[in-house]
Amino acid sequence: MEKREKLYEGKAKIIYATDEPDKVIAHFKDAATAFDAVKKATIKGKGALNNTISSFFFQLLNEKGIPTHFVKKLSDREMLVYKVEIIPVEVVVRNIAAGSIVRRLGIPEKTKFSPPLVEFYLKNDELHDPIICEEHIYAMNLAKPEEVSKMKELALKVNDILKDFMEKQGVILVDFKLEFGRKDGKIVVADEISPDTCRFWDAKTGESLDKDRFRFDLGDLIEGYKKILEKIEKGEN
Ligand code: C5P
Repeated sequence: MEKREKLYEGKAKIIYATDEPDKVIAHFKDAATAFDAVKKATIKGKGALNNTISSFFFQLLNEKGIPTHFVKKLSDREMLVYKVEIIPVEVVVRNIAAGSIVRRLGIPEKTKFSPPLVEFYLKNDELHDPIICEEHIYAMNLAKPEEVSKMKELALKVNDILKDFMEKQGVILVDFKLEFGRKDGKIVVADEISPDTCRFWDAKTGESLDKDRFRFDLGDLIEGYKKILEKIEKGEN
């Protein structure tokens, strides 16, 4: 596997071409951003932790039959993934109210959602990733109805798998964001699944073990992410 030119650089990752046209390398950076990148920092070790945690979750999903872009972890900071066409819609699944839904709708924090809520956001930094509904997705021609149904179905399956797995490790999966891509006309889970993109609460103490530590200065970010990694690595499926 040969690493070639940089194809894209985002806030948290860099994508490189490889000598295999259908595969790219995702490099996880140490950059942390929150609130539309108004709050920024470099946190040493974050990239490696997110790469390891994401690789673990993608592997788990692949084993459970969920199609993802993940091929394998290459090194501390790099994973090999299938090249996909990213759909510019972020899909958020919520089991418990926290974050933007509390601010936007006034729903009390910790309200349980049963069944879980599935929301769509437009992936657009300039517009601050606004919440959208299915009809907006069709009006803007971002995805077809059957693709949206598939994204919803997969998002809820991913929720079942990750929620159950984390519960066994003493961690509550509060909510998370997924991105999807098209690979050979099929919808697959892409991007990353890490404490940057999920809310994890310690089931015993309620402690946040995710990016809210950085967003709201709740404690050392690395310490929280390491706790997640330790729990999943010794965790039983
Ligand atoms: O901010 P909000 O409460 O809507 O976030 C819901 C979930 O989606 C959180 O776990 C958050 O980390 C994740 N998220 C994300 N990227 C975004 C927006 C939200 O990973 N652009």
